[in-house]
Amino acid sequence: MAQHVPIRNRRWILANRPQTEIERDLLTFEDGPLPEPGEGEVLVRNIYLSIDPTHRIWMSDVDQYMEPVAIGDVMRGGTLGVVEVSRAKGLAVGDIVTGQGGWQDYAAVSGKALRRVEPGGLPLAAFMGPLGNIGATAYFGLFEVAKPRPGETVLVSAAAGAVGSLVGQMAKLMGCRVVGIAGSAEKCAWITNELGFDAAVNYRDADLVGAISAACPKGVDVYFDNVGGKILDAALTLININARIAVCGLISTYNEIEQGGGPAMFRNVLMKRARIEGFIVSDYWRRYPEAYAAIGAWLEKGLLKYRMDIRDGLENAPDILKLLFSGAHDGKLLVRVSAEPR
Ligand SMILES: NC(=O)c1ccc[n+]([C@@H]2O[C@H](COP(=O)([O-])OP(=O)(O)OC[C@H]3O[C@@H](n4cnc5c(N)ncnc54)[C@H](OP(=O)(O)O)[C@@H]3O)[C@@H](O)[C@H]2O)c1
Repeated sequence: MAQHVPIRNRRWILANRPQTEIERDLLTFEDGPLPEPGEGEVLVRNIYLSIDPTHRIWMSDVDQYMEPVAIGDVMRGGTLGVVEVSRAKGLAVGDIVTGQGGWQDYAAVSGKALRRVEPGGLPLAAFMGPLGNIGATAYFGLFEVAKPRPGETVLVSAAAGAVGSLVGQMAKLMGCRVVGIAGSAEKCAWITNELGFDAAVNYRDADLVGAISAACPKGVDVYFDNVGGKILDAALTLININARIAVCGLISTYNEIEQGGGPAMFRNVLMKRARIEGFIVSDYWRRYPEAYAAIGAWLEKGLLKYRMDIRDGLENAPDILKLLFSGAHDGKLLVRVSAEPR
């Protein structure tokens, strides 16, 4: 067995279901035994843990797209790690893999549920961002669900975030006019000055509809929604005939106790003959290589930029998750669980 074998496996266990915001007492931090890989499994040392808005959904028991995490289970989470023991064909000690290793130091995972990555000079963290689920979400949500055409106006919410920043850049590559919505002057400046968005709107401005309208003088043909709530309503107010609304996420509603009301401007879906469609990226998993090939080529040519926000310490994971809901992070949020191999 490799030298890294610890005497303990620190892990976060879901203890309670959230009512509103994420609080530390929802999870307990404990030492567990080192997982034993069975036949066909590998022991992975987690290096990066992806921190995602959907963790808030998985903690709750609302009707959702997969099973909620059970009380008493290790909190689910996407990870990138290194294989330390292999009992799976095709995976060797030292391989770098991504999968669902959870909020813990080590995981025993079926080899079939892992993707082996070849860094090829790229930072390992990129495989948790543009070359991971996040990139696939932007790619399939934009090209398969929203289906923008060159020259159209594409509006994106949480536009400085992990998914939104890629969506806006991909829409620019298609020749669209792209407007992003973000929550600070710094984030608005980043997406326009660095990423090439045509305009940005700070959603904390008082007159949101007026600000979006000014930034989208020809109306909105595509709205890529990461947020829901008031921002979805503002976008619906401004959609053009035959607009497409891709519902990727509804983060402004995840902490709500009661899902009330629905969008006040829903009638515009009828009046404007719009199409509104939700999607879950894992439905496209068989086609991920297609997304990664396209995104890899764009990265190589310097046509896509991204920011990673890597925070230290598995012990801080619940507090780090909360950052997604205040926006006090910059780019794809990860926890560094352990060091990268040299
Ligand atoms: N459908 C899928 O398969 C899929 C896959 C991955 C992610 N998603 C969804 O995509 C969305 C973005 O995820 P991400 O990982 O890229 O996170 P992210 O955008 O990097 O971070 C979340 C951002 O949401 C914004 N936000 C949070 N609360 C808000 C509120 N009340 N009002 C307005 N904006 C708010 C903040 O933006 P500011 O900093 O600008 O305030 C924050 O930075 C989420 O809704 C997530 O659930 C869906």
